[in-house]
Amino acid sequence: MRTTVGIIGAGPAGLLLARLLHNAGIDSVVLESRDRAYVERRQRAGILEQGTVDVLRAAGVGGRMDREGLRHDGIELRFARERHRVDFPALTGGSSVMVYAQTEVCKDLIALQIEEGGPLLFEAEALAVEGAESERPRVRFRHEGREDVLECDYVVGCDGFWGVARRAIPAEHSRVFERMYPFSWLGILADVPPSHDELVYARHDRGFALLSMRSSAVSRLYLQVPEGTDAGSWADEEIWDELERRFETADGWSLKRGGITSKSVTPMRSHVHEPMRHGRLFLAGDAAHIVPPTGAKGLNLAVGDVVTFARALVHLEETGSVERLDAYSETCLRRVWQAERFSYDMTTLLHRAPDATPFEDRVQLARLRRIATSRAAETDLAEGYTGFPLD
Ligand code: APR
Ligand code: PHB
Repeated sequence: MRTTVGIIGAGPAGLLLARLLHNAGIDSVVLESRDRAYVERRQRAGILEQGTVDVLRAAGVGGRMDREGLRHDGIELRFARERHRVDFPALTGGSSVMVYAQTEVCKDLIALQIEEGGPLLFEAEALAVEGAESERPRVRFRHEGREDVLECDYVVGCDGFWGVARRAIPAEHSRVFERMYPFSWLGILADVPPSHDELVYARHDRGFALLSMRSSAVSRLYLQVPEGTDAGSWADEEIWDELERRFETADGWSLKRGGITSKSVTPMRSHVHEPMRHGRLFLAGDAAHIVPPTGAKGLNLAVGDVVTFARALVHLEETGSVERLDAYSETCLRRVWQAERFSYDMTTLLHRAPDATPFEDRVQLARLRRIATSRAAETDLAEGYTGFPLD
């Protein structure tokens, strides 16, 4: 097989990149190790920054998002039984976010790719990226029981944290920056209308809790739990009881309960691989960086990376200049590190580490009260949450 851009991975990064390249008249092939059903049901976050919403609309894949997505103009912070709403448009000159699940973004992109895009091969596992430093990199992959090779001009590793693309970068050219957090998230989906019309982030002495949603009828909620927690070790009523404790407010707000339809535990890590390029191999999305989900940045960073690559390749096709391709890693990393900083700040602001000291508890509350009383501090959070501009 032969194509201009070989894309490994059909998550948001790989699928959106294929769409952007298709719209620019550049051919690609997407190799995805899992089957379609797995990719479309994999539960992930659901917050789209304004920039991501704009990109999806411009790429012609925003229709259902605009019909079914929920525009949110703020979030609520809770701490010490107090409530504080952060008003995004008032603090950012009009930005908001869209609540629209990553699963739905992927379904929309897959449908379009199948309908009018290039080859999207499911159950096609990339085994290795070879010749990244040559003019003709290639992806060795297994599909329908036999090994094959995809010859490319460029390879973009959109294969997530556990993928193969990153391994094709020699260790002597790689620098890894990582932080593991001493806690995880227990996430549930529940068939119950959300108990608040916006997201609620709660800091509590017993740990963090988050109220989010998938629609007006489906709630998505998270509890900070010790790392290594088994989702099955929490009974449904225990989960609801613990959520109720952590969301408690002085004004008697109440949490509606319902049938829990899924439970999963997610570890928390920050991770950046530099550079995001080696020869004609480029990394995008989780293949290059991971953020703790507190700031809901993962998908939005993946969008920024693939927009940057697509623009750089179009620039090359139109002008013959490799300038923007050569600047790809540096351009992406500027935005990646701002999102890493924001996600780290949100995570350390709201979670209580197992070894937290009374001093650290007071500093956390002081940080939260600073946000609740300082427009400057509140603006920093609102700008980080609604997203950093695409260069
Ligand atoms: N060959 C082919 N496909 C692979 C391989 C491989 N060797 N290894 C992994 N994949 C596929 C995975 O099955 C997955 O569908 O690559 C895809 C990577 O998708 P994501 O992990 O979703 O990463 P990305 O597209 O960068 O999106 C980042 O997804 O995981 C969330 O929280 C993350 O919201 C963020 C977003
Ligand atoms: C989600 O809806 O899954 C979600 C929302 C906000 C976050 C993380 C996850 O910060």
